[in-house]
Amino acid sequence: MKKNLLMWDQTLFKDIEVFDIDYVPEQFEYRDEQIQELAYAVRPALAGGRILNTVCRGVPGTGKTTSVKKLFEEIEGTTKKIVPIHINCQIDGSEYAIFSRIYTKLTKNRQPPTGTSFKMLFDMIAKYIENESVVPIVCLDDANYLVYEKELNKVLYALLRSHEAYENVRIGVIVIISDPDVDLESSLDARVASVFRPQIIHFAPYTASEIAGILFQRVTQGLYPNVLANELFDRIVDRTMKCGDIRIGLDLIKRSVMNAEKSARMNVTDDDVTAAFSISRDLRLADVVRVLSDEEAAVLFKLAEMTNDADIITTKEVHTALGEKATGYTTFVQIIEKLDHLRLVTLTYQNAGKGRQRIISLRYDPKRVLAFRKIQAGCKPNT
Ligand SMILES: Nc1ncnc2c1ncn2[C@@H]1O[C@H](COP(=O)(O)OP(=O)(O)O)[C@@H](O)[C@H]1O
Ligand SMILES: [Mg+2]
Repeated sequence: MKKNLLMWDQTLFKDIEVFDIDYVPEQFEYRDEQIQELAYAVRPALAGGRILNTVCRGVPGTGKTTSVKKLFEEIEGTTKKIVPIHINCQIDGSEYAIFSRIYTKLTKNRQPPTGTSFKMLFDMIAKYIENESVVPIVCLDDANYLVYEKELNKVLYALLRSHEAYENVRIGVIVIISDPDVDLESSLDARVASVFRPQIIHFAPYTASEIAGILFQRVTQGLYPNVLANELFDRIVDRTMKCGDIRIGLDLIKRSVMNAEKSARMNVTDDDVTAAFSISRDLRLADVVRVLSDEEAAVLFKLAEMTNDADIITTKEVHTALGEKATGYTTFVQIIEKLDHLRLVTLTYQNAGKGRQRIISLRYDPKRVLAFRKIQAGCKPNT
C-alpha cells in the first residue's frame, strides 16, 4: 500500500501554530509597562475624550505588534464604541491602500467599489464613523515602510485632520516604527507635526533570560516532551540572542523539529538545528525581499549577480548592467536609496578622476540573496 504522505501522523508538534510569526500568545510577559502606557493613551476615548497619539519604537522582534494586538483584543471585548484597526504597512504601503483597508475593517468586510477616488473613499469612511458614532484607532504597524515610500505625511495628515472636515470624526493613531535609523521628527512636515504630538513608548531588546523565558514557554506549549534537549534549546537561545530577533528563535525551533520529523526521528539533533539556522537566519531578508516591487527586485538581484570579492561596484554600473530592465535614472536612484533604507545594500561615495562616484555594496552573501529570486517572483502578498 502506498503511504499517504498527508496523513502521516507521527508528529512531534503538539501545536505547530505557536511558532508562527503572527501567533498572539496567551501568556505575554515582560511588556506590562508598555501595554499599560498604550492603555493609558486609549482610555480617554471610553469617556468620549480624545485618544493620545502614540509612537511605539523598538527593533524587530521586541513585542510591539503583539502588545498592540493584546490591547486591541481587550478593547474589542470591552466596547463597540472604539474600533481598533491594525494595518501592516509593509503590505499596505500607500495612502489609498491604507484607507481602503480602514474602510473594509470598519464596515466589517465591505470592499470599496473599484474606481472609488481617494476623496470618495475618505467621505465614505467619515460618514460611516459619524453614522455609527464610533472612534477608530488606527495602528500603522511598521510605518517605517511609509517613511521609505514618502507616504507617512499624507496618511497622518488625512487621519489627524479628519475632524476639520467632519466635525464628529476623531481618529486615534498608534504608529509603530521598527527601524532605529528613522528620525521621525525630521520626517514629518510642519503641518503634520503641529497636530501629531505623540507620546513615545520604547521597546528595548529582550535580554537573554527573557528570550529563554519566551521560547521555553512556546516549546512547552508547542512540542511534545523530550523532543528538544536542553543543550540544543540553549544553543537556539544563544543564536537568537546573537541575531537580536526573537522571531528567528521561533522559526529555528520550528524548522529544527520539522527536520527531525522529515528523518522520522523522535528528537532534534545538532545537525537539525544547524540546517535550520541556514534558513532561519535569512528570515528578515526573506521578509523584505517578498515585498519588493519587480523593479526593486531586479536591481537587487542584478547587484547580487555582479557582486564578487574583487570588484568595487558603482551605482552607474548596476544601472547599465540592467539593460532593458533599467528604469529611468531618477527612479533608479530612488530604488537604490530604498534598498539602503531596507539595509539590503550600503551606499558610499568615492572620489573618482573627474568627480564623485557612488559605490553600492550588498550587505548579504550574494548566493543567499539570489536564492530568493524564485520566491520573490512567485508570491506577492497583495496580488
Ligand atoms: N513577551 C513576549 N512573550 C511571548 N511571546 C512574545 C513576546 N514578545 C514577542 N513575542 C513573540 O515574538 C514574535 C515577535 O513579536 P512581535 O510582537 O511581532 O514583535 P515586533 O512587532 O516588535 O517585531 C511573535 O511571535 C510574538 O508572539
Ligand atoms: Mg511587528
